[in-house]
Amino acid sequence: MSETTVFSHDPVMLNEVVAVFHSVPRGVVIDATLGGAGHSLQLLSSNSDISILGLDRDELAITTASERLAAFAERATVRRARFEQIDDVLESLHIDEISGALFDLGVSSPQLDRSERGFSYRVDAPLDMRMDQSQSLTAAEVVNTYERGELIRILREYSDERFAPRIADAIIAARPLQSTTQLASVVTTAIPAATRRTGGHPAKRTFQAIRIEVNAELDQLPRALESAIRHTRTAGRVAVISYHSGEDRITKNILREAETGGCTCRADLPCGCGAVRLVKRVRCTETPTSEELLRNPRARSARLRVVEKLAPAGVN
Ligand SMILES: C[S@@+](CC[C@H](N)C(=O)[O-])C[C@H]1O[C@@H](n2cnc3c(N)ncnc32)[C@H](O)[C@@H]1O
Repeated sequence: MSETTVFSHDPVMLNEVVAVFHSVPRGVVIDATLGGAGHSLQLLSSNSDISILGLDRDELAITTASERLAAFAERATVRRARFEQIDDVLESLHIDEISGALFDLGVSSPQLDRSERGFSYRVDAPLDMRMDQSQSLTAAEVVNTYERGELIRILREYSDERFAPRIADAIIAARPLQSTTQLASVVTTAIPAATRRTGGHPAKRTFQAIRIEVNAELDQLPRALESAIRHTRTAGRVAVISYHSGEDRITKNILREAETGGCTCRADLPCGCGAVRLVKRVRCTETPTSEELLRNPRARSARLRVVEKLAPAGVN
């Protein structure tokens, strides 16, 4: 069985993403989170004016996407890279301006479903959770070496876990933890019985927090979004699909900063602070339709935000 056959990921808000990039100027669109190339394939088929530069830090995603994009060889370039390296990748390809960028954040279905990756509390596997398997920090290291305060911080910051201190204490008492199911069971026991029965699997938030820590998911986002906006040409678009409040908060703040230029003036007065507005917000459907949610429950927390690059001040 080829890698492509085992990589199954339903692209989220596909029709909405295609609509966002339908009218962008001719040129390169970066798919910053290429995954199985689900969005990229549809973008290439629906808009013959664009080519795709696809990035991912996961080797399986790169192998799969390269196979799937082979039919579009002339219009698709794939690089294994982290999205905060956009500047370097563009420089290496001598590309200055792009027509837009798509960030479909979070994990892919194969990352969750392939037991050996250690992302899921449902299947027994070593505590890994690395998107990029060449990096050294793993979930096992976080769980077995982080101090109590650090564990509490990541549980609170990355997944609003209200039982963070109890979970941190239980993890420390159970060290060394080796596997996903062992961690899931320790977390479940640490949460009061009445709460365990509500709001999905009791270990879900802990697994999300550890995954975000292992992959430094939130640290890299602001720089990557700023680079994408900077390189986007007039009328090009940057779209972000986020899946949890931390990602969405960062996205909203970076897009708003680009939209207002950091303007500090009173809203009822003309701007006098010299702020330069880089983008305007594109109003579009922000959440998946009920039909999509029926077909793909993993899309349920998705939120799409889009901005369009403005002409530089004084240029029409
Ligand atoms: C939700 S999946 C994308 C799925 C893709 N849109 C599709 O249609 O198949 C997110 C992907 O982003 C990748 N990823 C996450 N953070 C990244 C980063 N900082 N740099 C590059 N890739 C990243 C993950 O490895 C994963 O393959």
